[in-house]
Order: sequence, then structure tokens, then C-alpha cells
Amino acid sequence: PDLIGCYAQQDWDSTLVVITDVFRASATILSALYHGAIEVQPVATVEESLQHQNDPDYLVAAERNARRVEGATLGNDPEEYTRDRVEGKRVVLTTTNGTRALHLAQEAGAKHIAVGTFGNISCLSDYILREKFKSVLVVAAGWKGQLAGEDCLFAGALLHHIGERNVDAKGINDALLMAEISFQKYKDDLLSFINRVEHYARLEQLGYLPTIAVCLEQDRYPILPLFDLERQTLLPLQ
Ligand code: MLT
Repeated sequence: PDLIGCYAQQDWDSTLVVITDVFRASATILSALYHGAIEVQPVATVEESLQHQNDPDYLVAAERNARRVEGATLGNDPEEYTRDRVEGKRVVLTTTNGTRALHLAQEAGAKHIAVGTFGNISCLSDYILREKFKSVLVVAAGWKGQLAGEDCLFAGALLHHIGERNVDAKGINDALLMAEISFQKYKDDLLSFINRVEHYARLEQLGYLPTIAVCLEQDRYPILPLFDLERQTLLPLQ
């Protein structure tokens, strides 16, 4: 399959879109579902999330500029989503870039949308190979419209994990080629790449460095969130 591509001319019936926001929305979604949340409903605005503030079935999770939004119970740190907090709850989540990327994919016409990051790379790779998608489009969420190195690195890692022999070489575009070269170079010491990306500095400034290792740990949350178009929510693949 193609790995990083563009929205133009996709055959949405046979394309899996993988939303990746390595720091940190993807890991947060995985952690919530892995620890027993019933669903994660991604919403576009803080106002939409806060509408659920007084509903005991819901947990309001909202982040802007890497900080928890006032009035929300949870922010965007995967470690906050412990079993005792989230089990049996519906999480309604809005983040600066991650949930936005998901909505953009949907608006573009995507029919099959998954959330992927290092924490579920094996589950995701197995799913891609099993379901035989013709194309896989990795949406690297980035930061406010700018590329984020960590998201691209993950696209390279996914290609490595799936195994090049399983990917049509003609489908590897230049974006993926560069992502793959970066991953190959740094795969044994991801941190020496990661500590130079812009979002590392943001997280460091806010005192969130411990989250970096959590978000990079391979298969920490072996679960695959898939977006249910009808119910507009992320549910774990059963
Ligand atoms: C986002 O969605 O923009 C991010 O996950 C930012 C963060 O909270 O680190």
C-alpha cells in the first residue's frame, strides 16, 4: 500500500487512513480505550466537549496548546487515563491537532479511519496486512498545519514494521521515503531524533517530559481504535 499520501484521488473504499499524533493525542486515545473506556468521541471544539460536563456517563477531556482546558476533567496525557478513572465511561475529547486531523480525514471522504502510533504499531500492522487495504494513508497530524517530525517518523516506523516486501514500491512517495530514511537512521535511538523536534521543546517547557517515553513505547497499548462513521466515535476493534 501507499503509506504517506494525499487526499486527492483516493479510492476511499479500499484506503485505510491512519491518524497519527505521536505527541500525544494518539497515545491518549489508546490509553483511554485500553483502560476500559467504552468509546472516545472526538469533537472539534472545547464548547462541544464541555456540553457533557454534568453527564455522569461522560468524561470531558480537552487540550489546547498542550495544556488541559479549564473545566475539563482530563487533559491530553495518556498517563491520566487510568483504569479507575475511565473504565465504563465515554470520553469526549478535543485536542489542538489530533482530533482535528481526524475530522479533516472524514470531511475529505475517508471511510476507514484508524488511530495509530508506536503504542499500537503491531496491532495496526497486523490489521493492515489482514484486511488487505489497497492504500494506507498516514495522516501526520503535525502542529497547527506544520509538519511534526515525530509523526513522520512514525510513518517510517510503520513501513518498517509492515515490511517493505509487503508494500508496493511504486506507492512509496517522497514523503514516506524521507520518513523511512529517518526511521532507519534513528530506530535504535529514537530519542536522539525526537529531542530535536519542536514539540519536544514544548512538552519540556511544560514539564511533560516523562510523557515522551510513554508515547514512544512500542505496543504499550495493544488495541486498535477505529472510527465508527455512523456514531461518530472511536471504538476498539474487537
Ligand atoms: C494535539 O492534538 O495537538 C497534541 O496531542 C498536543 C499535545 O497535547 O501534546
